[in-house]
Amino acid sequence: MTVLKAYCQDKIQLIEGYLKKYLEAEGQYPPLLYEAMAYSLFAGGKRLRPILLMAAADAVGGRGDQFLPVASGMEMIHTYSLIHDDLPAMDNDDYRRGKLTNHKVYGDGIAILAGDGLLTAAFSVMLSQENVEPAVLCQVVREISVAAGPRGMVGGQVVDLASEGKMLDEETLKWMHAAKTGALFRASIRSGAILAGADSEQLQQLTEYAEQFGLAFQITDDILDVVGSQEKIGKSVGSDQRNDKATYVSLYALDGARSKADAAVANALKALEPFGAQADILRKILLYLTTREE
Ligand code: IPE
Ligand code: IPE
Ligand code: MG
Ligand code: MG
Ligand code: MG
Repeated sequence: MTVLKAYCQDKIQLIEGYLKKYLEAEGQYPPLLYEAMAYSLFAGGKRLRPILLMAAADAVGGRGDQFLPVASGMEMIHTYSLIHDDLPAMDNDDYRRGKLTNHKVYGDGIAILAGDGLLTAAFSVMLSQENVEPAVLCQVVREISVAAGPRGMVGGQVVDLASEGKMLDEETLKWMHAAKTGALFRASIRSGAILAGADSEQLQQLTEYAEQFGLAFQITDDILDVVGSQEKIGKSVGSDQRNDKATYVSLYALDGARSKADAAVANALKALEPFGAQADILRKILLYLTTREE
């Protein structure tokens, strides 16, 4: 098993164990809501945001596995964003994480509420984090809320929807990617670093890594929507073209999109240079994700 695979398996086990325990302790009423939340939460995502949070903490000499509540809260926010992203009123997709989308199983109303439930509960989960100065925890949770909200993911999703049928200019497309996808990655990585006591130089370098990572990740996602297979990526392909979305592929064609992703990967790797071997996991995650199966 590769070092990366072993690291991810270990962290995924911790995150999923934490999320299961949390849901069990919640009492499960109303059962339909908890079933719908658990359906998407345990559908087998890559758990990238919590893994990156922990890997960033490790990269600055901390212990990422001490920050499970904040890390798991990030996964809850991300999962909510996927449930809503797939709704008929948004991307109207039928498959996610290798299974039917939430609304296909539970209907639109329950899917919307399952998303709302995950988003709001995420904040109480994150605030249950112990062994961190309250002021530091407040700073991190505030940053996560900004990243998930109108200036981050939600704002990016609005530009994405409004762009259907249009060509965006390069600057707007870049902003949209940074907001709808980059913001949660950025907040995850910065949170891990801040919680683990990163100094301002380390935080600045990891922020640059995070921003370049987010861009490379969403460009790769746009490419896989065109050349990937549903079997491998676990979600509907061809969705962007069907919805006439503005993407890196629609603007630059496949080759252009690939070279933009390569440039972002190179920038991300450069930002990790000062960390030496301590950032090996962050390097490996980046390279794995941007060269994954098509
Ligand atoms: C999918 O994110 C949504 C995008 C931002 C492109 P992931 O590819 O991390 O999805 P999961 O969590 O593994 O399902
Ligand atoms: C979605 O981008 C980003 C989110 C905030 C969920 P996409 O719409 O491209 O994500 P996928 O391809 O459906 O996962
Ligand atoms: Mg979308
Ligand atoms: Mg989508
Ligand atoms: Mg996509």
